[in-house]
Amino acid sequence: MRFICKISSEAHELVIKNIRKGNKEYQMEALYQYHTFINHGCRFTPYECICASGTNGSVLHYEENSKTIQERELILNDMGGKFYGYCSDITVTFPSDGRFTQKQAIIYNAVLDAQRQVHNSLKVGVNWGDMQLLAERTITKHLFNAGLIKGSMEDLIKNSICRLFFTHGLGHMLGLRTHDVGGYNKGTPPRLPELSQLQFRRDLDVGMIFTNEPGIYFIDFILQEAYKDPNKLKYLNRERIEEFMHVGGVRLEDDILLTANGPEILNDVPRTIKQVEACWRGEDWRQIND
Ligand code: GLY
Ligand code: MN
Ligand code: MN
Repeated sequence: MRFICKISSEAHELVIKNIRKGNKEYQMEALYQYHTFINHGCRFTPYECICASGTNGSVLHYEENSKTIQERELILNDMGGKFYGYCSDITVTFPSDGRFTQKQAIIYNAVLDAQRQVHNSLKVGVNWGDMQLLAERTITKHLFNAGLIKGSMEDLIKNSICRLFFTHGLGHMLGLRTHDVGGYNKGTPPRLPELSQLQFRRDLDVGMIFTNEPGIYFIDFILQEAYKDPNKLKYLNRERIEEFMHVGGVRLEDDILLTANGPEILNDVPRTIKQVEACWRGEDWRQIND
C-alpha cells in the first residue's frame, strides 16, 4: 500500500504540473492513468477517477470528466490506484491557473485545518467518531468566521449545520477495497446518535489504514432545500453563500497508516497553498514548510 500510494502521488503531481485551462477534465484522468500504467503496470483503478473543475467539484462522485477547464476554477481530483489488489484513494484540490483566489483560499484552508486537526489527534485508542466531530467543529468555526453561517457555536454544532457543506463521512478503512470492510463491529450501536450514519466509527488500532478526507462543498440542491426550512435558514447567510457557489468543492484526502508511534501519511502530495502553487509552477514544493 505504501507503493501504490507513492506512485499515485507521483501521478497526481504530474497532473497538477501539466494541466492548464483549456484542457478537458478527462485529460487529467488520462495523464494520471498513463503514469501508473506505463511505469508500474497498474491497469485498473479502484474507482472511477473523479476529475472535477469549477462547480463540478460539488458533485460528490462526479465521473463524467468531460468539461473544459476554465480560468480561475478550482480542480478537485480524487484518483487512486491498484497494485496487486491493494488500493490508494487520494484527493488533491488546486486552482486551474496556479493561484488561489481569496474565496478559494478561505475554503481550502478550512478543509486543510480540519484535516490537520484530525491528523494531530490520531493515536491508538482514539475513536473515529470523535475525529468526525472534531472535523465538523473545525469546519463550523471556519464557515462562521467567513460569514457563511451565523448563530452561536453551540446551536450550529447541535443542529449539524456544517453537514450542509461537509456532506460525507470523514474517512473509511482502505485496503483490498476502496471502502474496506471493518469500519464498525457488527451489532455495536454508535456511541452517539449523530454518528449512526458513519461507515467507520471504530477505535483506532495499530496497523489500520484509513482515509482522512474532510471536504466543503457548495451543493445547489442541498442549499436550496435548506433555504426552505426556517430551522436551517436562520443559520445561513444566504447572500454570502451565493458569493461562494462558484468555488464548487474542496476535498483533501490522505491515506493514513496508524503505527504505535502515531500516524504515517502514505501519500506525498502538496498540501499547503504555497506548496500547491509551487507544484503547479513546477518548483520543488517539498522545500516549502508552510
Ligand atoms: N474516492 C471515493 C472516496 O473518497 O471515498
Ligand atoms: Mn475515500
Ligand atoms: Mn477518494
